[in-house]
Amino acid sequence: MIFSRIPLLLTFLHVASAEQPSAPSPISAPLRELPWSKGRGSINFLHTTDTHGWHGGHLKEAQYSADWGDYISFAHHLRQRADEDGSDLLLIDTGDRVDGNGLYDASDPKGKYTFDVFKEQKIDVITSGNHELYLANSSIREYDEVVPDFRDSYIASNLDIYSPKSGKLEPFAPRYRKFTTKNSGIRILAFGFLFNFHGNANNTVVQSVQETIKEKWFQDAIREKDVDLFLVAGHVPVRDSEESDLIYKAIRNAKWDTPIVFFGGHTHIRDYRKWEKKAWGLESGRYMETLGFLSINGLSSGKRRLDATTAKSPVYRRMYIDNNLFSLHHHSGTNHSSFPTEMGKNVSEKIEKARKKMNLDEAFGCAPQDYWLNRAPYPANDSFLSLLDTHILPDTFTAALQKPSIVISNSGAIRFDIFKGPFTIDSTFLVSPFTSGFRAIRNVPYGAASQVLQYLNNQGQILLEDLVALSVDPTMYKLDDLTPPLPPVGLHTLERVTVAGHKAFAPRLIGRSESEQILLVNGDKDAPALPGYTTRDDAGSDGDDTIHQEIQFYDVPNCIAANIHFSPSSNKPLVSEEHAELRSRQGGTVHLAEGTKPETVDLVYNVFVQDWVLLALQYLGHDYGKEATEEVLEGQTMTDIISGWVRDNWACEGEK
Ligand SMILES: *[C@@H]1O[C@H](CO)[C@@H](O)[C@H](O)[C@H]1NC(C)=O
Ligand SMILES: *[C@@H]1O[C@H](CO)[C@@H](O)[C@H](O)[C@H]1NC(C)=O
Ligand SMILES: *[C@@H]1O[C@H](CO)[C@@H](O)[C@H](O)[C@H]1NC(C)=O
Ligand SMILES: *[C@@H]1O[C@H](CO)[C@@H](O)[C@H](O)[C@H]1NC(C)=O
Ligand SMILES: *[C@@H]1O[C@H](CO)[C@@H](O)[C@H](O)[C@H]1NC(C)=O
Repeated sequence: MIFSRIPLLLTFLHVASAEQPSAPSPISAPLRELPWSKGRGSINFLHTTDTHGWHGGHLKEAQYSADWGDYISFAHHLRQRADEDGSDLLLIDTGDRVDGNGLYDASDPKGKYTFDVFKEQKIDVITSGNHELYLANSSIREYDEVVPDFRDSYIASNLDIYSPKSGKLEPFAPRYRKFTTKNSGIRILAFGFLFNFHGNANNTVVQSVQETIKEKWFQDAIREKDVDLFLVAGHVPVRDSEESDLIYKAIRNAKWDTPIVFFGGHTHIRDYRKWEKKAWGLESGRYMETLGFLSINGLSSGKRRLDATTAKSPVYRRMYIDNNLFSLHHHSGTNHSSFPTEMGKNVSEKIEKARKKMNLDEAFGCAPQDYWLNRAPYPANDSFLSLLDTHILPDTFTAALQKPSIVISNSGAIRFDIFKGPFTIDSTFLVSPFTSGFRAIRNVPYGAASQVLQYLNNQGQILLEDLVALSVDPTMYKLDDLTPPLPPVGLHTLERVTVAGHKAFAPRLIGRSESEQILLVNGDKDAPALPGYTTRDDAGSDGDDTIHQEIQFYDVPNCIAANIHFSPSSNKPLVSEEHAELRSRQGGTVHLAEGTKPETVDLVYNVFVQDWVLLALQYLGHDYGKEATEEVLEGQTMTDIISGWVRDNWACEGEK
């Protein structure tokens, strides 16, 4: 393993030459070298996934502060390197480019500025995620704009759309592509899948992977001659995914020996999975934090036939690049002045202008401390979810509701942390980009209402998954939809959290011990204390380009709740004794004396969990239909609630 410690040459002068002017400067850290593959039979990939509108980079985290313009410059240098040494560089993006950052969400219509920014990168294989498809207008826009922008690279193996022009069901993009790489002549057959997603608007149709691989076009494609590499890009996790495994098996049934590479997404993690020595898959995190890198050498090509006696197995290697200029300069052998290309600079400027136009840096207030979604246990005084159920929800709904009420939200309504300092228009979209509001069922008997949270958190008398199995249409309910996507560390540390298990939210440390961290940095005493991802995957624990101090992540409950106008208050919806104590310490709701329970309450919930709430109530013997529910707070979303609360409660220094 090679490390290099580069002095920080870039003493940041924020000239508009790269990254956003308000971004923090990158910090020097020990880096591993990029496992580039050079020469004939070699191919290198850069992979982005689940960028969710973060094309302006992270303006509050130096580690991930490079923007899409910088990525354009970076790819330019690596393409040049490939041209010089006879290998190739391909870029892949596997969807969920929208929702989750002011740059996308704050404009009207949404995405007004991001499509023009995004299309300036040359991408060789691109697919749709589920987020492109939730709303009919966003999938139409994707179809009308992004698909033509990437005419030669957009692939939709299992996605159709009712064409806005003809009204007929048509493939969203070509089902697959076959192409030959420029320098090395490697013949690639590429697919672009989406997992078996059901939550799309009715103008698109996602065909299950099970059905898709039976189709003639697919069966013919995997039998095509002269394929050196199968490339399966998809908004599909690479691990624990029935969909990926089915595709792998189908290809192997037809071609027992052709190398396969997968690029996946959706679960927001860094991961690298081995099916066998000629089939590996990479998943490259989330939110433009990570540029995934994968290289293969020893492939056959049209120019270079490997016969059985000379052929060695191809070698696959990977790296998770932290998206900051320190890393990007290093891996491209450039410096502050030689790095940015004209196109890269133009795109950074475009992003800056768009951010200014939308006033994304305008603050509602200033957070007095950090509040973490997964990086603090729940409950805790630096847990964002605790802030929500002890302050934000009670304060907001006490003013808005008259009767005793229980207000429930899924934790997945929150997507990101709050950092100490200005809480801006941009922050609102980062922490909760969803457009759904809250609804209420009036006068629910207290006995039932008070148990709903327990059921949603798997503490009811029946497991949530068993409850779902009893429902009329079990496919409607996906447990994973309740909680935030998992934090992006390797699956081996995460063990794919047991949201369906009883103790799903017990504060559980998902991390490694101190001693292992020290081993990891090879005894380097100068190793910086920069927190970041330490990924363990099927190739080991040396995949992150930057050697980090490991971040610890904690599980969170599926749902949280607050009691409103309980007098004095109730214990029931609390998720644990500990939590009850915390609430009382913090002046929130406290234990209720026996006999003071209200007879009925209004049960208020985030629309996202409506089906779950109705399901739990039904099991508890109270069958409310959707028609029994009504809007509250005039449709205000979680985003509105949080920003309003911040405005009313967190002043910035120097303000009264
Ligand atoms: C789609 O409609 C929603 C409102 O329903 C709106 O906020 C959004 O801007 C629209 N998106 C596009 C791409 O037109
Ligand atoms: C989709 O649903 C809307 C009502 O929500 C309906 O008017 C429309 O016909 C449906 N479209 C298709 C293609 O089924
Ligand atoms: C940056 O790299 C270029 C080209 O390699 C070189 O000419 C220049 O001196 C370098 N600048 C600095 C500040 O190191
Ligand atoms: C960058 O922007 C300038 C000014 O708008 C324009 O003249 C130039 O052609 C652009 N360059 C590229 C590579 O797009
Ligand atoms: C959070 O709790 C810890 C330990 O209980 C305490 O030391 C700290 O001061 C608290 N922080 C705040 C902001 O209340």
